[in-house]
Amino acid sequence: MANSKKILVTGGAGFIGSHTTKLLQEQGRDVVVLDNLSTGHVSSVSCPLIIGDLSDRGLLNKIFSDFDIDTVIHFAASVIVEESMILPGKYFENNVVNSLNLLNAMAAHGISKIIFSSSAAVYGEPHYLPIDEDHPKMPTNPYGETKLMVEKILKWYLTSHNLSSVSLRYFNASGAHSDGSLGENKAIVTHLIPRVLRVAAHQTEVLQIYGNDYSTPDGTCIRDYVHVLDLAQAHFLALEKLDKEQGCFAYNVATGKGHSVTEVVNAAVEITKKMIPIEYAIRRSGDPTSLVADASKITNELGFSPKYSDLETIIGTAWVWHQRLLQENLAKIVA
Ligand code: UFG
Repeated sequence: MANSKKILVTGGAGFIGSHTTKLLQEQGRDVVVLDNLSTGHVSSVSCPLIIGDLSDRGLLNKIFSDFDIDTVIHFAASVIVEESMILPGKYFENNVVNSLNLLNAMAAHGISKIIFSSSAAVYGEPHYLPIDEDHPKMPTNPYGETKLMVEKILKWYLTSHNLSSVSLRYFNASGAHSDGSLGENKAIVTHLIPRVLRVAAHQTEVLQIYGNDYSTPDGTCIRDYVHVLDLAQAHFLALEKLDKEQGCFAYNVATGKGHSVTEVVNAAVEITKKMIPIEYAIRRSGDPTSLVADASKITNELGFSPKYSDLETIIGTAWVWHQRLLQENLAKIVA
């Protein structure tokens, strides 16, 4: 049966938020986005957009009074791990205090369902692989700590305010929309794949690989890359879960397959047909050797089945998007 209530998506103008919003609209759901546009883009949103910040409690109350919202999908956050080490206060403020503002406004308006963007960063250095949801949670940076804190708050808000939640612990979000309309568009580029593509596009001369002396087959770090369209699908499945069941749930969102940095670079050479010069640099502090998920819980309980998360599709879609961004930026310079 169609659901006429609205879904509020915080951070819906950002990378994962915009893909999820688009999927929800395609599935006939009524969506409204709240975004402060600190990193998101108006052009990524094709539904009602409220420009504002989660620190504005008055605005949150107004949104919940004005719109008939029954679920919130909460993406809005600061997400750069290295920055969180230098400016932890910014992360506790934006990710924890602002999430509390949101939860309190939801509780005040009797809104009982939230899907929260959590992260593999809640686990910290792996104690064993693959990492399942029961793995110890010992974040090694403030970013991961903020995500864990919100997960803990959600547990107590179920007891006290009857607020049901699904926390989705993303592993390495990557790729771009298969129709070329959306993708990662950040002023500060820290992630491996966009950096590799910058080298392929001659925007950067050489890719630095942070460490080739790890205890992995080729000496470089291993990560579990999951395509943003599969991540979007996970949110849709989480919505269905909360439509059926009350509780506080957490799932890894990943493929269960790991790829090394070298494998990513080699795949990018194949796909882009460009030279990608590399140099080995020292390890980046705080990088675990290997982060690979056990994805069986989300597969078995929610029916998650990634369709786009092979390296070829991830890098292929990201490359199409990257070239589009380049052309748009060039056109702006010429105009
Ligand atoms: N890397 C390089 N060179 C670069 C960039 C990255 O060698 O120029 C390497 C990193 O050292 C790492 C791998 O590529 O081994 C992936 O790095 P990313 O920065 O793309 O991603 P991370 O695994 O560091 O971080 C991701 C998410 C975070 C999340 C974290 C979970 O982006 O939000 O996983 O620990 F917190």
